[in-house]
Order: sequence, then structure tokens, then C-alpha cells
Amino acid sequence: MRVLVVGSGGREHALVWKLAQSPDVKEIFCAPGNPGIAQLATCLPIGVTDIVELADFAEKMKVDLTVVGPELPLTLGLVDELSKRRLLAFGPNKLAAELEGSKVFSKAFMRKYDIPTPEAEVCTTRAEAENAVKTLGLPCVFKADGLAAGKGVVIVRDEADRDKALKLFFGERVFGSAGDRVLIERCISGDEVSFMVLCDGERALPLATAKDYKRVFDGDRGPNTGGMGGHSPSVFVDAATAREILIDIVNPTLRGMAEEGRPFRGVLYVGLMLENGMKPYVLEYNVRFGDPETQCMLIRMEDDLLPYLLGSARGKFEEGAKPAWKKEAGAAVVLSAEGYPGPFERGKPIEGIEDATAEDGVFVFHAGTAKSADGKLVTAGGRVLVVAARARGLSGALALAVRGAEKIRFDGKHFRRDMGTKAMEILRERTGSGLS
Ligand code: GLY
Repeated sequence: MRVLVVGSGGREHALVWKLAQSPDVKEIFCAPGNPGIAQLATCLPIGVTDIVELADFAEKMKVDLTVVGPELPLTLGLVDELSKRRLLAFGPNKLAAELEGSKVFSKAFMRKYDIPTPEAEVCTTRAEAENAVKTLGLPCVFKADGLAAGKGVVIVRDEADRDKALKLFFGERVFGSAGDRVLIERCISGDEVSFMVLCDGERALPLATAKDYKRVFDGDRGPNTGGMGGHSPSVFVDAATAREILIDIVNPTLRGMAEEGRPFRGVLYVGLMLENGMKPYVLEYNVRFGDPETQCMLIRMEDDLLPYLLGSARGKFEEGAKPAWKKEAGAAVVLSAEGYPGPFERGKPIEGIEDATAEDGVFVFHAGTAKSADGKLVTAGGRVLVVAARARGLSGALALAVRGAEKIRFDGKHFRRDMGTKAMEILRERTGSGLS
């Protein structure tokens, strides 16, 4: 089979890495890819929003399956364009991708189908927003309706934050048309977890649980990022909670989307808050794999990923399909550029990847990297590399990933060392050791 993967991040590198191990995959293309992906696939100079060019390529090269990584091409209708040409694609169509593409749509959908989610109001003016803050109280959360590259969510704790958020959303209008409508949501506290399921329009197959850490600094301090690392299993979701999430959230979501004439195929990533460590509330839906959750999850996947992606794309999983996972844990540590998620410099030479991967169980996935004019590997993004590690027990995997991260060198390298601290405490309470 010929597979085209769309995207250029660490998530897409992990997808290409896993698909390259499938006995049925003969050739992989990636658009646009990155230097790490280029070691496993043919990279193409086509951007993720070049919908017609991507479909033209898939048609011309007789690609058997296109796997769409990021949300933007999904909301722009890449899957619809491919389907129109009778080409198979993994991911939701434009109508189903609205679950992530519009927070106003997804909140109304959750209300309609009785899916637990924090109370919220939709505002289009500053005056409406001021009233909503009064009604909901502080703290609350401002969310831009449309896609904002992970930056459209602002937590408002006090009156000073409120004034800043009002200025950002309604004065400066920094989110452009994505901020035409703003959702103001009651803030709930607890443990945030990522729950990903593969869907074929009717059925959901849960993937291994995972957790990511979004704040840039140790101790969960500093601004939110796309994710600074994570681990699988998540530890915060036990078997009973996973069942509850499936019954109360995932199944009604799939039924509701089918009823709305938007059957959901692809990966549904539910971002949840476990309030008081217990009851799950949906904070957001994503319609694609999490990054870096995918990296720590896929290194644990025992079986071939391809049949699951094909089943989802065709609208029917094979009978008895159920992904199998290695008993070992997975961890991921993101190496970011100094300044990220704010402005950062590019073009810093990268060294030490071979040292890092020399140790058994360590994998390095490229994200924001590029080749300089003289062929050297250099930084080219905010999240530069992801060091993933698989080992017996979560503490072992986390320590191995941090050791790998230490071996890689570039100017301004930053990474978190504290991920999994609370997860380890929970494990110690549960099992008397940190090893499971
Ligand atoms: N790690 C968060 C995300 O993929 O949205």
C-alpha cells in the first residue's frame, strides 16, 4: 500500500515511524514532513492547507490511504476533497471536524446530547462578555470559537485578568475571525487528561490512555503550550473512569454526531477535566491525534496501526478489532526553543541525537527541525524535538526520556524535568511502588 501522511510535527513523525513497520505499507509520502520523517518517507513540498494540491498528488500517485495529522486541513475539507475523488482518507470530514473547528458548535452539541461539560455563554460583544463574567463568576475561561493554533484559551482568575482578556478578545481582536464569537466558560479544577478513541462512524476503539503537560515550566508554571511532554498510561484514568468516559461521553458523542448527519470517523480526542479527581467533564474535543500524547502512546502499540486506520477510513472496523499495548510505559519530553510559546529564534545547530537514541528504548521524533544550506540539522520551530522512551514502569520511562533529552544539544534548549510527579504519587498510593 501507498500511504500519504499530512503534517510536519512530532505526531506525524511518530505516525510515519509506526506505519513504516507495517508489512502492508510499501511506500510512504509525507507533506510537507521534516528531516526526521525524510529518513522514512518521501517528503513533498506541499503545505497542509493546499487541499487541491494534496488531493491531486494522492490521485496522481494512486495513494491507497491518506492520513491527516493536524486539524486545519480537516476543517478545510481535505477528507471531503479526497472522498469526492473516491480516495480513502483517515480523519473526519469538514462537517464532523467542526467538533474542534467551532467551540460554539461543540458546546451546543454537548448541551443537546447531555454530555457533561462546564456551563458557558456565547458572547459577541464586550458588554455581553462582561455580563457573562458576572453571571459565571471568577475564575472563568475565555475561549475563541475558531482554531487559534492552541493559543485561543485564556484563564481569567481575577479582575486584572478579566480586563486583559476583554482587551485581547474584543479590543485588539488578536484572534481575528476565530474570535468573532467567544465562549466564556465556568472554570473547573482537577486533573486534565486526554482520552483518544478511533472511530468508524459508529464504534469507538479506545487507545491507550495518555496525559500531556501543557505549561511551559516545571511545577505547571508559565503559559500554556501545545504540550511539553506526557506519558502513557495516564494513571489518572482507571478502568472504572475509562468505562464512565465511554458510556457518558464517547458513545453519546458518536450517536449524536450520526444523528446530526455528521458521522465521526478518525480519531476523537476528548480533553477532559476529572473534577476532584473523579467526575469527567469535557473541556474540548479535538478531531486528531494529540501531540505529544501520540508519541508516548504509539511506542507502546503492540500491533499494526494500518488496519485500524483503514477500518476507520472505510467506516467499519474489522470484527473483534481491539488495539493491544505493551506492558511497558511510554514517556515523552519535548525539547523547545528558548522563548517558546512566545517569540523564539531559529537556525540553531542540533547535535547529540545519535547519543540519545543509542540507549535501548529511546526514540527521537522531529518536530520543528530543518536542514540548513550546508546540510546541518537546525532548529526551525518552537517545539523542536520529542524524546520518547519506553521502559518498565512509568518512573523508568520518564527517567529514560529525561536522560535522552539531556544528551541532545542546541542553543537555548529547554525541557521539563518534573513531568509525572503527581502520577507517580498516585501510583505509589495505589500499588505501594512507582513501577506500574
Ligand atoms: N497535546 C495537546 C494537543 O495535542 O492538543
